[in-house]
Amino acid sequence: MNKIIYKNKMEFQKFETYTYVEDKHVSYLKQLEDFVQKSSFLPHYHLYPKTGLMNDPNGLAYFNKQYQFFYQWFPLEPHHGMKHWGHYKSSDLVHWEDKKIALIPDEEYEKNGCYSGNSIEKDGLLYLFYTANYKTPQGKIPKQAVAIMDKVGVIQKSKKNPIIDGAPEGMSGEIRDPFVFKRDGSYYMLLGAKDEHEVGQLLLYTSQDLIDWVYQGIISLPIDKGYMLECPSLIQVEGKDVLIVSVMGLEKEETRYQNQFSTIYLVGKLDISNKVFYEEYSDEVDSGFDFYASQAFYGKNNVPMMVAWFGCGQQELPSDKDMWKHGLTMPYELKLKQNRLTHFVASELLEQFKKKQSFHNEKITTKSNTYHLSFEVCNHKDEMSIKFGYLKDYWELKFDFNRDHISVDRSNLDIPVDVQNGKIRKTKGLNKNRYQVDVFVDNSFVEIFINEGEKSFAFRAFNMTTQHHDVIFGWEAIGEIAYYQAVGF
Ligand code: FRU
Repeated sequence: MNKIIYKNKMEFQKFETYTYVEDKHVSYLKQLEDFVQKSSFLPHYHLYPKTGLMNDPNGLAYFNKQYQFFYQWFPLEPHHGMKHWGHYKSSDLVHWEDKKIALIPDEEYEKNGCYSGNSIEKDGLLYLFYTANYKTPQGKIPKQAVAIMDKVGVIQKSKKNPIIDGAPEGMSGEIRDPFVFKRDGSYYMLLGAKDEHEVGQLLLYTSQDLIDWVYQGIISLPIDKGYMLECPSLIQVEGKDVLIVSVMGLEKEETRYQNQFSTIYLVGKLDISNKVFYEEYSDEVDSGFDFYASQAFYGKNNVPMMVAWFGCGQQELPSDKDMWKHGLTMPYELKLKQNRLTHFVASELLEQFKKKQSFHNEKITTKSNTYHLSFEVCNHKDEMSIKFGYLKDYWELKFDFNRDHISVDRSNLDIPVDVQNGKIRKTKGLNKNRYQVDVFVDNSFVEIFINEGEKSFAFRAFNMTTQHHDVIFGWEAIGEIAYYQAVGF
């Protein structure tokens, strides 16, 4: 039986965890959508769920001259329930059309959700790969599935689903998040996994037609793989292979892996025949509180790009009471800088921050809560901090030039966010005396880039004063501020 609770005149229904959306939910979802629109924490240029919880980006593609962004979505409630695929599309990464639900887990083989995966184009069709989540009292049976979208946008699940059923020898039932790519005329699929010894593994399959898949084995990786690998991605950036994996169970270090789970990149070469990734450089992708399960893809003109889930693990957020949770990061363009992977805001989005104003001041007051601030930090004090907020309700970006640490501190926000997982996130600097800083604030979504994305922090901050912020530098800072102009969705 649905339990009904009353709040702010809207009646919220309670659902069994594995409830998928049917016609009977449509009018309730419409009411919920109107309710969410009243939330004071909504972003203007980050994608967010119109109701319920959003997590990983899925099936990202530039297909049919449009960006197709799918995502993990439980539309009915703001927590991790039955995962559907939601779908937004856009021709410019600025104006988005909400295509609502793309995949509903209504088949027996996916009875516990349509989990994450990517997409690839073949013969004018977009193949959407996903994990059909299937639980039994003895544990999960891993199943991978595919749905095919045509140019009109009609999506059909393959009659051959599940296209991979069961686990290869030595693996547990935790195998998921297919990432399919083409190399030298063959298709390959990477899958994140946990083996029988509770160690994370990356699995390789191959296919000629995207439907029949043959297991090839484990790819050897020169990193700590924790107890489970999730959401692998492989992309070519400036002629090198970049592998991105999300890892569960890494031990926290002073300047790395401070979230519950972490996303790592490796730059180098994937040797498919020997199943080895030869690493030249690796690091955590982002150092903020809210970044996980990123997916790489080729955008317009084959530009290597990436988007991540703006969230991580299980968190309680102030927006839960407004019936929506999490979002996606901005779309990034990927580049290499001396073998480091950099990610920075896609140019289409960057262009929407208009009417740049210069400043030369110790403190500025922004005109809204939707801005791009850029400035330089030079080492003229060992420790430098910039405060964003109002009076005693602020978050801080700190540079410790002695220790070469850069950190974000959420200790002084009036509305606490997920404090049991710590209030500070710290990363090692780049051993420089001068940094270029770009801060993008989108109401409760904040993204900071150091030296155009050599380091970054994505995190949520729910300032009480939502309309504008004081930015206090504590020195005569020189920089520019611009405001987001477009109305995106
Ligand atoms: C990562 C993840 C994936 C899974 C999906 C389920 O955040 O756990 O491994 O497919 O989320 O929503």
